[in-house]
Amino acid sequence: MMLLLPSLLCALAGYVSAFLVETATLTDLYPPLWKDCPSQFSDYKVEDGVYTIDPWLYPERMGMYKILITFTAKYFERFGPNNEENILWGLPLQHGWQFKSGRLTDPTNVTDCGRKNGDHMCISVNSWWACMNYNLCVLPFLGAIEAGALGISSDQVTLLPPPKDQMHFCYDVTTCRSSFPDAMTKWNTFFQQAKNLSKTLDDLLSDLWIAHVATLKATKNIFRNRIQYYSKPELDFEKSWTTAMDYVAAMCFETTLTKTYKFQMALPPRLLNSGDQPFLIKDFTDSQNRLLYLLNLLYETDDNSGHKFLHLFKNVMKSKILRKIAKFAMEQVILNYDIILQELISKI
Ligand SMILES: *[C@@H]1O[C@H](CO)[C@@H](O)[C@H](O)[C@H]1NC(C)=O
Ligand SMILES: *[C@@H]1O[C@H](CO)[C@@H](O)[C@H](O)[C@H]1NC(C)=O
Repeated sequence: MMLLLPSLLCALAGYVSAFLVETATLTDLYPPLWKDCPSQFSDYKVEDGVYTIDPWLYPERMGMYKILITFTAKYFERFGPNNEENILWGLPLQHGWQFKSGRLTDPTNVTDCGRKNGDHMCISVNSWWACMNYNLCVLPFLGAIEAGALGISSDQVTLLPPPKDQMHFCYDVTTCRSSFPDAMTKWNTFFQQAKNLSKTLDDLLSDLWIAHVATLKATKNIFRNRIQYYSKPELDFEKSWTTAMDYVAAMCFETTLTKTYKFQMALPPRLLNSGDQPFLIKDFTDSQNRLLYLLNLLYETDDNSGHKFLHLFKNVMKSKILRKIAKFAMEQVILNYDIILQELISKI
């Protein structure tokens, strides 16, 4: 079991071969269409002092993240320049990957919502990824408003409902607080802590991941019925991805701009088809194949152990020194471009 650990850490760190992020400028790392998304409340429709946002349009949902990232820059500037160290970057980058990889499209094929040659900016309410992302966008955003971090009051923003299943979603600070009290409280706490300039990045990462995990926990059972639309490999990936988040959280992965970007290079660049076998997908890179394989392995290990493995992992990661070692190991692996797939398998 413990032998698995380093390999899994490597995978979770997003082993990236032959890619030097240092050669790119930071703006190259931003999510798709970032510069065209709203960056202030006045870019949205406003009526009687209330801003209306349609979270089922990619630029409008991404705009909420952009406002969040922009307004919280001051909390992270002491950790590094250009807002690069803002640990909220993990959220919009993840959503950008979902968009780019076609995961926000209508999986039932009934509409052309989200399709490149159709209604490209549409986010489908049938998409499992889009529904899982909803609360990971709306709750931090409204939590930040509630905590007074975005400069407007709680009754000044409302979200438009999707075309169906309206009762599964919440639309403003009040309804989100009553539907998801625990997650809302934890996001609120994160933003309150972020305002305290004597907190370390580690402190804030811990609060961020607590809120993230609480959000996923409150959300994942609501959208179970969405998984029926996907191929078996994609479904397996969805399950292992959800499980992996618990491990990434326990590790307090640093969701800064550069680190998240590197990590995401190893994520599947398109939806998986029924014929796709992890490890052997021809149009995927070495790292993408490897990550997929190891995520499935992690899922099975976790499942077979009745989640005891997660418990063990969490205990190990409680130690600051071991977390440091884990992070150091991750960085070594990221920088070690020469490690090959076979070596990794033989280690497992
Ligand atoms: C939708 O279309 C894709 C590609 O044409 C196909 O692979 C998939 O099975 C279809 N999904 C459903 C639910 O019909
Ligand atoms: C800010 O954080 C420090 C370190 O965790 C703590 O000692 C202090 O009480 C906090 N200040 C406020 C106002 O919460």
